[in-house]
Amino acid sequence: MRRTETEDVHDILRHAIDWAMEAGHLQRDKFRSSHLQMTTKSNIHDVVTEVDKACEALLIEHITSRYPSHSILGEETGQHTSAETSDWQWVVDPLDGTNNYSQGLPIYCVSIGVQYKGETQVGVVYVPFLDELYSAVRGEGANWNGRFIRVSRKTDLNECVLATGFPYDKGTNPINNLDNVCALLPTLRGLRRMGSAAYDLCCVACGILDGYWELDLKPWDACAGALIVEEAGGIIKPFRNDRHISIVAGNKTIVDKIYERLNKNV
Ligand code: IPD
Ligand code: CA
Ligand code: CA
Repeated sequence: MRRTETEDVHDILRHAIDWAMEAGHLQRDKFRSSHLQMTTKSNIHDVVTEVDKACEALLIEHITSRYPSHSILGEETGQHTSAETSDWQWVVDPLDGTNNYSQGLPIYCVSIGVQYKGETQVGVVYVPFLDELYSAVRGEGANWNGRFIRVSRKTDLNECVLATGFPYDKGTNPINNLDNVCALLPTLRGLRRMGSAAYDLCCVACGILDGYWELDLKPWDACAGALIVEEAGGIIKPFRNDRHISIVAGNKTIVDKIYERLNKNV
């Protein structure tokens, strides 16, 4: 049992898994419901459903009951800090892939990262439609439905299938990833836009994608998935510092080859 100042990370892992699965089952129950309530957030492309909100409420309720001193950063409700705050913080994306979910497309997940003094110690991603669970504890490897996983070993972009994504302000901000797609696509075996950053990272971790890059991610999109990639032997490399979290993921050789072709400002 590994403890980081009075908390047992395996206890945190078990709870994060249970709660991610509970939220995921709620998502599956409401999936493709004809009555799904939806509104927009930053612009018309950026949607939120009643299920995103219900899942965040459920997760916050569990976390604050079991770990009252821990902080929480949730996509839908922002920062929650208790009076006797500790150095632990839960970073929660209650439903990653909301656009897919609202359309009835099955790639969506729950993503929970848990940090100690700003460093992610535990990552859990549950993909309800596929019933796939990805998890990692820092220093202990990464898991996919109970099996240890490793990133792809490919080193030639011509043999690689990568994923990427596009920011919600793609219509108004010229730094919107289109130039990167033009620079990379011709050299790749395939490029996917799956619609869930957390799931993209998990696919990189288990080697069913050979790499991934995206700009303008937020902490809740990447917190759990980045640890899962690193614990699967991959690396996460930043490529812009003017668009929130902008990262490349994969094995070191592939990350360097993707990075070389990207429009960067680091
Ligand atoms: C989005 C998804 C998408 C990525 C966006 C994210 P959301 O998260 O991860 O794949 O391209 O940048 O904001 O809004 O579905 O939680
Ligand atoms: Ca997200
Ligand atoms: Ca979300």
